Amino acid sequence: MSYLNTLFHSVDLGANLTLKNRIVMAPLTRSMADDDLVPTEAMAAYYGRRADAGLIISEATLISQDGQGYPNTPGLYTQAQIDGWKNVTQRVHQNGGKIFAQIWHTGRVSHSIYHNGELPMAPSAVPIVGHGHVPRTENLEYETPRVITVDEIKRVQNQFAIAAKNAIEAGFDGIEIHGANSYLIDEFLHWDTNRREDEYGGTVENMARFLLEIIDQIKAVIPEGKIGLRLSPQAYINLEHDERDKEVFDYLLPLLNQYGLAYVHTGMFSDTPYEHLGGTVTQYIRKHYRGTVIASGGYSAETGATAIEKGDADLIAIGRPFIANPDYVEKVKQEKNLVEYNNEMLGELI
Ligand SMILES: Cc1cc2nc3c(=O)[nH]c(=O)nc-3n(C[C@H](O)[C@H](O)[C@H](O)COP(=O)(O)O)c2cc1C
Repeated sequence: MSYLNTLFHSVDLGANLTLKNRIVMAPLTRSMADDDLVPTEAMAAYYGRRADAGLIISEATLISQDGQGYPNTPGLYTQAQIDGWKNVTQRVHQNGGKIFAQIWHTGRVSHSIYHNGELPMAPSAVPIVGHGHVPRTENLEYETPRVITVDEIKRVQNQFAIAAKNAIEAGFDGIEIHGANSYLIDEFLHWDTNRREDEYGGTVENMARFLLEIIDQIKAVIPEGKIGLRLSPQAYINLEHDERDKEVFDYLLPLLNQYGLAYVHTGMFSDTPYEHLGGTVTQYIRKHYRGTVIASGGYSAETGATAIEKGDADLIAIGRPFIANPDYVEKVKQEKNLVEYNNEMLGELI
């Protein structure tokens, strides 16, 4: 029973935000927005059903059309999208929940079909090794991206700030910067994808600059306590490992202590230990970062509570089990069996 006591405690997060428990719904892309990338009524119902989580983090949400890499992923850059999200956040709040928007640019994990035939942007013109198949297309593979210019960097950073402001207008309790899983921000943080020789590459300080400037721009428009950040120092999805990558995060994570962020969130599919990190990715983040830490990657309520009890994390994010079980929190509370997740469940919002 003790693990339930650990999870079902309220916790203060950032500015004026109290979560009713320590279970977070992880960001989960569902590709169910309409063709204008506006959140639908079905999405409001889907998130509303999960409002008993301490915090919901929305599926990755685009800061601009330039950032799109998957079909029907929602945006936060048009008034219709903001209004669509208002319906979602109202539903979650009516049901007693809290929700952050995860804001996102896919970088090179995109295709010219989303950009009127123009190549997607990335720190360097380096293709995904083996290219890989673009989701929901017939025989389309990822291309070699074009290099984002410094002017475009400034524009994208500004779009992150505008999207954050739009998220607050849409009723979100805060935002999570998607700095994980080999999308644009993460591409700046890894040597495989960042081969620049200007002020955004070549040294750890330069590689961290793109993200740090985004945080600075966002905190100029919304309170720092409403800004979360997801990082994946070790998630090599669509990305090749380089031994120097750890140095980037050794530099970046302690710097984040200078900000009053809501939290730093591990972006992983399984939180297994790595020798060179001295433990799991969450433990590694915890070692360098003194603020609130959210663990994720293959946790159950019980193993998540153990991570919290050991002091590795403050909150536990649950992904796939939340897709399979809209009533995940209630089932955990009552120690009921969970429905097991499988990929076929992605076809429908239950
Ligand atoms: C269908 C699916 C969609 C996902 N979409 C996102 C996303 O939009 N943003 C993100 O940061 N992570 C995304 N993830 C990763 C999850 O947030 C989470 O880190 C991962 O599923 C591991 O947690 P779990 O073992 O509890 O599922 C996704 C995972 C799945 C399975």
